[in-house]
Amino acid sequence: MTQQAESRLHAGAPGDESKAATAVAGTTPDQTAGLPKGATPAVTRAVVRGTGHYLPERVVSNDEFAARLDTSNEWIVSRSGIERRHFAAEGEATSHMATKAARAALDKAGLGAESLDAIIVATSTPDLTFPSVATMVQAELGMKQGFAFDVQAVCAGFIYALAQAHALIMAGTARRIMVIGAETFSRILDHDDRATAVLFGDGAGAVILEAQPGTGTNADRGILSVDLNADGSQKDILYVDGGVATTGTAGCLRMQGKEVFRHAVEKLARTAHTAIARAGLVAAQVDWVVPHQANLRIIRATAQKLGLPMDRVITTVADHGNTSAASIPLALSVADAQGRFEPGQVIVVEAIGGGLAWGAVVLRW
Ligand code: UT7
Repeated sequence: MTQQAESRLHAGAPGDESKAATAVAGTTPDQTAGLPKGATPAVTRAVVRGTGHYLPERVVSNDEFAARLDTSNEWIVSRSGIERRHFAAEGEATSHMATKAARAALDKAGLGAESLDAIIVATSTPDLTFPSVATMVQAELGMKQGFAFDVQAVCAGFIYALAQAHALIMAGTARRIMVIGAETFSRILDHDDRATAVLFGDGAGAVILEAQPGTGTNADRGILSVDLNADGSQKDILYVDGGVATTGTAGCLRMQGKEVFRHAVEKLARTAHTAIARAGLVAAQVDWVVPHQANLRIIRATAQKLGLPMDRVITTVADHGNTSAASIPLALSVADAQGRFEPGQVIVVEAIGGGLAWGAVVLRW
């Protein structure tokens, strides 16, 4: 932990109104907030403190594709549920969108960037090969403290990033982390390939996680369980055909859609089940599923396998298309802005993408 973070830990982060009333010997005020007088916190929980998102101005309709490709609005809507998506403007890159989403989350939480210990960005479409998008966001936010890095797990990137942030908070390495999913997939699409060009979009979403004391039961707020998986033998069904060490180009996305679909329905339901069970819960106790927004048919099939009605599932795929690692934080932020989540509700987030890599996180809002 940085010296600044360390001193904030003892002084209380600036702009943080959740100061503890009760201090327990050997713990900091933050660690005892909300606990009965004299109680010692059993665990530290990574609790959502705020959300934010950004979508590029340009909205691309299905008809725009139909005007130049052998496709139709009817095919795209019926096969994927996508009605429109946003594409970044020329010169607009992943770090710009990520920074805007981060600022929105900080504003919503009433926090300043100086109160963050770390930034994690999930992305497969960084501005440059290096440095990371996360360090660019750090600079844009004017942060002089903390650490920053990117996570690359394609569409499962935000789940992996949440898992990283959770582990860092549980270990005491950081107390407040900005977790961002941001993508400019329009830059890696083969715009002449109707099978993939119509499916993806650009955008960014951000979630601030912060350490709060918990009792160790699943009644705690914050992340309750994590399930991560990968199967590198499935590389060829979803990949980008270029890279730094091979072609020296960014390459284009290639996908065997039907194969990915088949894996998605089966693996998403399984990982969600595993994470729910690991949290000591059953599906009936889940208030909301916020799935990766790739295809409405996958979202419906997964909800059905979990035995959950669609009115407990957040969907933004119609408006955003598949924004890869950005899709879950975008959906979380949009739903949060609509006031759909109540404190104490159980939320499951789940995603699968290239790798294959997939996973789920259960949290209490
Ligand atoms: O986020 C990462 C994870 N990615 C995903 O989860 C994507 C998973 N896959 C999917 O969402 C679906 O498989 C797609 C939406 C990509 C495709 O839907 P599908 O029902 O699996 O269609 P398909 O690939 O089997 O294609 C059916 C037909 C084919 O024609 P034939 O062979 O039946 O003559 C395709 O060539 O639809 C054709 N097709 C199109 N037709 C009109 C493919 N793309 C298009 C298109 N417009 N854009």
